[in-house]
Amino acid sequence: MENFNFYSPTYFEFGKDKENNAGKLVKRFGGSKVLIHYGGGSVVRSGLLDRVKTSLNKEKISFVELGGVMPNPRSGLVYEGIDLCRKENVDFILAVGGGSSIDSAKAIAIGVPYEGDFWDFYQGKRIDKALPVATVLTIAAAGSEASLSSVITHENGMVKRGTGSDKIRPVFSILNPALTQTLPPYQTACGATDMFAHVLERYFTNTRNVEITDRLCEGIMLTILSETPKAIANPDDYDARANIMWAGMVAHNDICGVGREQDWGTHQLEHELSALYDVAHGAGLAVMFPAWLKYNQKHDVMRYAQFATRVMGCQMNFENPEITAREGITRFETFLKSIGMPVRFNELGAKKDDIPSLISMLKLNGRTVGSFVKLNEKDIEAIYKLAADN
Ligand code: NZQ
Ligand code: ZN
Repeated sequence: MENFNFYSPTYFEFGKDKENNAGKLVKRFGGSKVLIHYGGGSVVRSGLLDRVKTSLNKEKISFVELGGVMPNPRSGLVYEGIDLCRKENVDFILAVGGGSSIDSAKAIAIGVPYEGDFWDFYQGKRIDKALPVATVLTIAAAGSEASLSSVITHENGMVKRGTGSDKIRPVFSILNPALTQTLPPYQTACGATDMFAHVLERYFTNTRNVEITDRLCEGIMLTILSETPKAIANPDDYDARANIMWAGMVAHNDICGVGREQDWGTHQLEHELSALYDVAHGAGLAVMFPAWLKYNQKHDVMRYAQFATRVMGCQMNFENPEITAREGITRFETFLKSIGMPVRFNELGAKKDDIPSLISMLKLNGRTVGSFVKLNEKDIEAIYKLAADN
């Protein structure tokens, strides 16, 4: 196991009706003028936004609102949010929604105290300062409710890039699983795929003897495998929703990533898909992960066999572990299909002919992607082709 630092300061309130504590929590964490930031309207339709406002009013906390965050959140609204916060002297940002609203809130939070262009931080500049961000989560997926990252698409060129710092980990997050019961099955499945992918990015590692994090990863993946079909079959299954919601958090606050090298190659390849076609991040991952797994299988067959036996329920073939490894990937792909996810380019609306564009969007300049296997341009092309072929 490698040396590590672990800092995950988010305070959680988890359970039914917890959104009614938003006002009290903002007060406890020092907010006096709040920006409520939300998406395309689901929180308005569900009445959640009104409940959050009522709880702020109860604590006499003033607020302004900015809705309209799109999935794959855009830079334009971030600039608007920064201007609004400065004009209104906002000192605290409360995202009400999913990963997109939270990531947009994080981008505004780092942009407000910075004199330059917030996009500098998405091109490698270190984050030194940010307004506090908190969340009321409505979809279990991205893990942004406790993560140090934010992913934004710049409208100039539709470039999707991420940034990260402990300074943008939410100070608190309210997780009420009942709020996720209004999610359509497709979004539920996209969320499950994203969190599963967050674990896989950490599970496929070259670091040896990380049994504790391996076992944590496996527990999370087994939970996603068992609970997602339940939530899809019965959207009101509170316990399934609750298990999935907490799984999404632990999949990405990095507790299962410490002590080991992490990969993140598949996420980079997927970000170009969602930038080019504006598809849901989880759906893009459902297409890219099986392809990545197939391409890299020879690198460490025994790790694949471990995934196959411990997570996907395969029998170990001691004479030929490659068969076990392959079976694990097949079962994973079958699971994705069973929850309604696309697994090939055509099902996503992506085109094989666009592979050169996807590669050029990565702006490799000799750089490799990932760490389990360091992928060069040829490798990446082969993986995109595997994802494209039926
Ligand atoms: O916009 P509204 O109307 O709210 O509708 C949303 C949106 O259309 C809808 N939705 C959310 N909660 C709902 C609901 N509909 C009905 N009932 C509810 N309770 O679902 C749609 C998707 O929402 P979005 O916020 O985009 O989903 P998600 O949480 O999957 O976030 C995706 C974004 O997060 C980024 C992705 O790249 C993508 O841009 N990621 C962020 C990460 C991070 N910050 O740590 C890590 C991830 O790997 C990921 O890259
Ligand atoms: Zn993700």
